[in-house]
Amino acid sequence: MTSNPGRFPETFLWGTATAAHQVEGGNHGNDWWAWEQAPGHIKNGDRSDPACEHYERFSSDFDLLRSLHQNAHRLSVEWSRIEPVRGEFSATAIAHYRDVLQALRDRGMEPLVTLHHFTNPSWIADAGGWDNPQTAVDFARFAQRVTDELGDLSRYWITFNEPTVIAYQGYVRGEWPPGKHDMGAAARVLVTLLRGHWMAYARIKQRHPELQLGLAHHLRVFDPARRWAPQDRAVAAAFGRVFNQTILGSLRLGRLVFPLTRAGTASGPPNSQDFIGLNYYTRELIKFNHRYRAELFGQRMLPAKARRSDLNWELYPEGLFRTLLALRREQRPIYVTENGIADGTDTMRPEFLLTHTSAVLRAIEAGAPVRGYFHWTCFDNFEWAEGYSAKFGLIACDPVTQERRPRPSAMLYAQICRTNRLSPSVELPPAPPDSAEPAGPADLR
Ligand code: FCB
Repeated sequence: MTSNPGRFPETFLWGTATAAHQVEGGNHGNDWWAWEQAPGHIKNGDRSDPACEHYERFSSDFDLLRSLHQNAHRLSVEWSRIEPVRGEFSATAIAHYRDVLQALRDRGMEPLVTLHHFTNPSWIADAGGWDNPQTAVDFARFAQRVTDELGDLSRYWITFNEPTVIAYQGYVRGEWPPGKHDMGAAARVLVTLLRGHWMAYARIKQRHPELQLGLAHHLRVFDPARRWAPQDRAVAAAFGRVFNQTILGSLRLGRLVFPLTRAGTASGPPNSQDFIGLNYYTRELIKFNHRYRAELFGQRMLPAKARRSDLNWELYPEGLFRTLLALRREQRPIYVTENGIADGTDTMRPEFLLTHTSAVLRAIEAGAPVRGYFHWTCFDNFEWAEGYSAKFGLIACDPVTQERRPRPSAMLYAQICRTNRLSPSVELPPAPPDSAEPAGPADLR
C-alpha cells in the first residue's frame, strides 16, 4: 500500500525509455543497419541514420527532459560502438557513454542502462548471431567490460530487452534481422539469450554486488476471443505460457522450462533478477484456427470496438493492472521499463497516459511493488521496421530538421512527474465488448 493514497511512493522514478539504435544515428556497424539497406525491410525505405542525432545532442535532450520534471531515464549502450571488433574495446565509445551517464547524474536523473536492445555488432551477426551458443560468451564479456567501465555511474542495469520479441520477430515472423522462419532456431535463440543473461549476471554480481540487474520483459495479455470456447481458452493459455512465462519461469528456477528444454541446455543461479522490467503495450484476443499451425493454432484478433493506436494495437490499460498483479509472485521490485502508444496526432496519448499510470497506481495499492515508470518514449524515433512512420514520442522530433516539439501529452506527463500523483482522478474506461475481429498482421510487440 502507498502510505499516502492517490500518490505514488516518495522515491518513484519517472522517466522515458530509449534504445541507442533508435535515437543515436550513425550506427553503421550492426546487423540492423545492414538490414535497413535492403529494399522492403523498412517502411518507406527509412534508415536509422540520422534518427534523433541523440549521440551528439544528448546534453540538450536531457535538459529538455529534466525541464519536464523527469527524474530518471532508460537508455541503451550500442555494443557495436563499444566493441566494433571482437575483443577490441573502443575507449572513445566508452568515454562517450561515461559522458552520457554523467550528464544524467548532473541533472539528478537516475540512469537505467540496457546492455542489449535488439542490435548486434556485425561480427556477432556474421558468426551466426544468437543461434550460435558462443554469442552468450561474447555478450557476457561485453557486459562485464561495460559494467567495469560504467558501473560507478549507474546502479540499475538490464541485460536484454525483450528476448521473446528478438526470437519471434527475427526467427518466426522473419520481419527483423536475420529474417528467418524457423521455430526451432527461435527456441535455440531463447536458450542462448538466457545463457547470456545467466553468465552476465554471475560475472557482474561477483565483481559489483551493489549493481541491480534485471531484464526487460515484453509481457502481453492474451485473452480467448470467445470466452465460452474451450479451444480458444486453451490456445490463449498456450500463448501466455510460451510468450510470457518461459523466460520468467526459467530465470526464477535457474533452469530451462518447457518448451525450451527441447531446444538446448543451459542453467544459472535461481532468481537471477534483482528487479523485474516490464514492457507493456497491449493485449490480443486469440481464436483457435487450424490453419495457424506455425503460430500455435492461434489467430490473433482485436475486440471489434477496440480503441486502437496508429499501429492497430488495442488501448487496454486494464492489461497493465492485470500484468502487474500477476508479477507480484516474482517477489521483486518492478519497474515499468516501457509503456507507450504510436499516436502521431496526440489525440489518444493523454488518455493513454492517464489510464495507464492510473493502472500502475491501482496495482501499487493492491500490493505490486512498482518503483518506477518509463514511458516509451521521449522523442519520435526510428521505430524498427516501421521506420519514422510510427510516432511514439511525447516530443515530436523531425528527422530532417531535428526540431524537438513537445506535444500536449509531454506537458501532461510533466505534471504527473512533478506532482507524483494523478489529478484529476481518472476512471478506467469500461472493458470493450466480447466480440472479436481479425487483428491483421501485427508485430508481437
Ligand atoms: C518495444 C521495443 C522498443 C519499441 C517499442 C515500440 O517492443 O522494445 O524498442 O520498438 O516496442
